[in-house]
Amino acid sequence: MIDLVSASILSSDLLNLESEIRKLEKNNVDWIHFDVMDGVFVPNISYGIPVLAQISKKTDLFLDVHLMITDPLKYITQFDEAGADMITFHVESASDTMEVIRALKQTECHIGIAVKPNTPAEDVFPYIGYADMILVMTVEPGFGGQSFMDMSDKIRSIREYADKNGYEELLIQVDGGIDDKTAPIVRSAGAEVLVSGSYLFKAENMAEAVGKLKEEI
Ligand code: DX5
Ligand code: ZN
Repeated sequence: MIDLVSASILSSDLLNLESEIRKLEKNNVDWIHFDVMDGVFVPNISYGIPVLAQISKKTDLFLDVHLMITDPLKYITQFDEAGADMITFHVESASDTMEVIRALKQTECHIGIAVKPNTPAEDVFPYIGYADMILVMTVEPGFGGQSFMDMSDKIRSIREYADKNGYEELLIQVDGGIDDKTAPIVRSAGAEVLVSGSYLFKAENMAEAVGKLKEEI
């Protein structure tokens, strides 16, 4: 089983982003999780295309872009050109899900589809065959540092559906409130890509914190 850690830089020292990225590279982080918020889909505004373009010039880490925006279809080309390696959009967004998938297929980006805590697993079943990853939110999207909501049943039913239908390669990502205590819960339910923000950036020893997220369960 693969276990990957994607560091959410929302909780990093944004004015010293370059040194924060070097720290991620040195401390065994696998991916950079880049949260894009438009102030409409979620009640917060973060950063966007020009910042991603700068980051992609400075690192070879895999850029995992999480779009919390109302109309992802409009921006797929721009995020692709800015260097995204994976683009994850919400099934609850206003864009037509199949149209976004078709737009992503025109790019080299991996395809991720996200579900908010109150959205049932069944809502993503029709799209699992087109996706590389399903992101199961373990907090309401919008802010770092919130408490974990247990979505084990949803993770299990997505994993089961994927395995039954021949999509064993599908990755399941979790995002929100992931730390050394909640990581074993989501991993035993079947998640293998763990997004973590405040836990990693607050840690005194980041390599140790990454190790704890991946510890044998
Ligand atoms: C929340 C974001 C998360 C957030 C995670 O809307 O999608 O990626 O930064 O932060 P923590 O790990 O602090 O919950
Ligand atoms: Zn996120």
